[in-house]
Amino acid sequence: MADITDIRRPDDMERITTPELAKAFIDEQVALIKEQVGDKKVLLALSGGVDSSVVAAILIKAIGQQLVCVHVNHGLLRKGEPEQVIKVFRDELNANLIYVDATDRFLDKLAGVTDPEQKRKIIGGEFIEVFAEEARKLDGIEFLAQGTIWPDILESDAGIKAHHNAGGLPEDMNFELVEPVRILFKDEVRVVGKELGLPDNMVYRQPFPGPGLGVRCPGAITRDRLEAVRESDAILREEFEKNGLAGKVWQYFTVLPDFKSTGVKDGKRTFDWPCIIRAINTTDVMEVTVEHLSDELIDHLVNRIITEVPGINRVLFDYTPKPPATVEYE
Ligand code: XMP
Repeated sequence: MADITDIRRPDDMERITTPELAKAFIDEQVALIKEQVGDKKVLLALSGGVDSSVVAAILIKAIGQQLVCVHVNHGLLRKGEPEQVIKVFRDELNANLIYVDATDRFLDKLAGVTDPEQKRKIIGGEFIEVFAEEARKLDGIEFLAQGTIWPDILESDAGIKAHHNAGGLPEDMNFELVEPVRILFKDEVRVVGKELGLPDNMVYRQPFPGPGLGVRCPGAITRDRLEAVRESDAILREEFEKNGLAGKVWQYFTVLPDFKSTGVKDGKRTFDWPCIIRAINTTDVMEVTVEHLSDELIDHLVNRIITEVPGINRVLFDYTPKPPATVEYE
């Protein structure tokens, strides 16, 4: 079989925009995977993001229980995410899924770390370590599946982004790669995911950074501030969903900066965090505009967040475009 890194998107390939085209692509990939993998086992780090979820669903269709999915919860996921991965993949698709709750490990390593790049390094490094540990416990794995997509290949060709084959795993873990969505653009991955029956909130979900809520707690991450960012983010997502903004706005989230201000509640002085709301639109993420929310929605969000989330006594809105402000705070 040809080396996977030789597989390129044909210049004349039709853009996958319809269920029929998606189905034909899935059938083709299922046949190719069966041929490549035979009766061997494949390992996949399943984050619950669009790409790895679609890869998992295609592989389950092709080889069922021969696929071993590992979902690492680094404690920085959004509310309900690990539960959804378990429900969709283990309960509904009968996947062979290993769930690792590594929250304490990550948060202990991150304690007191304020530098954003250092935080990212710790999260990325620890992720590989946890994943490699799980892989070593398993016997007979010969393949590693990855959610590499066509823009990743183009960017690494252009030298913009290093494409990490095998996700930076230790050298002795020498797996052959399986990359069924390698030649697809993001919009095509979504059409394929929809055809595979994955839920809309997985297929059409907004971008979410690998370091997760960790970069939305600027400075040193603490468990209480992390909890406040998770809860406020859940309220924001629920309200965007209810108000028809979820599929319309590119990205929206909350940030909990590391300072407190005075407030008053039930006649008593409080000293709590502010919560910043950011909602943006873009096509390429290089330039970003702000989604202006209605007065009614702003009032409702403020009211829900200050009454429902412990530790927050103020809600601020970030109406800054990019440039000069990046999307994330660190
Ligand atoms: P910035 O903050 O650079 O964000 O304007 C642009 C887009 O990239 C996402 N982002 C990340 N994604 N790992 C990721 O996987 C990261 O470390 C990271 N930092 C930013 C951000 O959410 C936005 O969509």
